[in-house]
Amino acid sequence: MKIRFDFEDISSCKIGIVGCGYVGLPLFVAFSKVGEDVVAFDIDETRVNELRSGTDRNGELSCEEIEALSGRFESSLDALADRNVFIITVPTPVDVSSKPDLTSLVLATRQVAEIIKEGACIVYESTVYPGCIREICLPLIEEVSGLKVGQDFFLGFSPERINPGDKQHTLANIVKVVSGINEDSLKKIANLYRLIVREVCCAPSIEVAEAAKLLENIQRDVNIALMNESWSCFSKMNIPMEEVLRVASTKWNFINFHPGLVGGHCIPVDPYYLIEKAEQNGIDLPLIKQARITNEKIVNTLGQKVVQSLKLPLTGKRVLIRGLAFKYGVADLRNTKIPKLKKILEGNGIKVDVCDPVVSVEEAKKVFGVDLLKEDEVNTGDYDLIISPYDFLVVQNS
Ligand SMILES: NC(=O)c1ccc[n+]([C@@H]2O[C@H](COP(=O)([O-])OP(=O)(O)OC[C@H]3O[C@@H](n4cnc5c(N)ncnc54)[C@H](O)[C@@H]3O)[C@@H](O)[C@H]2O)c1
Repeated sequence: MKIRFDFEDISSCKIGIVGCGYVGLPLFVAFSKVGEDVVAFDIDETRVNELRSGTDRNGELSCEEIEALSGRFESSLDALADRNVFIITVPTPVDVSSKPDLTSLVLATRQVAEIIKEGACIVYESTVYPGCIREICLPLIEEVSGLKVGQDFFLGFSPERINPGDKQHTLANIVKVVSGINEDSLKKIANLYRLIVREVCCAPSIEVAEAAKLLENIQRDVNIALMNESWSCFSKMNIPMEEVLRVASTKWNFINFHPGLVGGHCIPVDPYYLIEKAEQNGIDLPLIKQARITNEKIVNTLGQKVVQSLKLPLTGKRVLIRGLAFKYGVADLRNTKIPKLKKILEGNGIKVDVCDPVVSVEEAKKVFGVDLLKEDEVNTGDYDLIISPYDFLVVQNS
């Protein structure tokens, strides 16, 4: 095999990050901080212009942090023409039928394939189902570029574990899973990430890494579904869930999950990637499917519980919901259940306000038509009930 590119030689690394969102931006920051030559490319020109002027709409980086970086933000593909490492971090959502939507992934793959040269290395970070990189991305790269994997370019998958708003489990201090289509790809990709993380875990194949990423999030979804079902049951029986959890958690092997709303781009999405791939293989996944149904429906139970906790008549009652994003303290509105909760309450004649410390007022209006309040605009005495919906155990009368 011809080896034309060596990550041991750090000076030869010209990194292009494709997609500069929750996953791409921290990668750009990490490579920039260790002095790598890095360009971040995003097709969203507005996002690129915001980043150039020091604004991260996701609220993960401050203006000073962005301005201290050495790399460039670009919205033209030409800016990637001289790159020899491409890290693809574009969205992999589901469509209206909860089927994997690979549109962005395929487009990004095509864009990179059009410009790669011999010796290039392509790493995917976007979450995909087992087999997606080998069966969808690899043939497309070879067809468009005319290059051959293993001979002309390197290929791998390194799933992201970023947790928006979490300052403890950051890219630099978590274990990063890496995988390659062959030994050379694995070695090079592992060396690439060793530049920016404390520890890498080399998966034996791309499929293992793809499956492991899905399992990490599916495990959370299923466990939260168990807590949600238990919460629905115990609350009907007038047994306080917080006490049940406190007592149960004194057992050495009890796992600490809580009931809650499941949102964001990962946990409510990734199970469908495995469900789809399993179905293609004639395999049914009833537990995983049921967890999705349970977690999607729990907002209705929460709505009913809030309604029941108010004294009649409901018309004219006022409720404040603390938080609009999919979890408290982040700006990410993807798959948030709060607008649905608000609608359920309003359907009962209740007047609902929402406040959130991080989400922008303009974004809330644009995406959901919600007139968001900021904390200093809230007069808690105005409300019959204030709820913190991210933790079902806290439903607080004012
Ligand atoms: N957000 C998370 O917490 C998280 C955690 C782990 C894994 N992931 C996975 O990482 C991937 C990215 O997620 P994210 O949250 O960063 O998404 P995001 O929406 O925040 O960012 C993706 C960016 O890619 C850009 N983009 C889309 N198509 C493009 C293209 N063809 N070329 C260049 N740019 C393009 C978008 O404009 C956007 O800015 C997804 O597969 C997701 O499942 C996300």
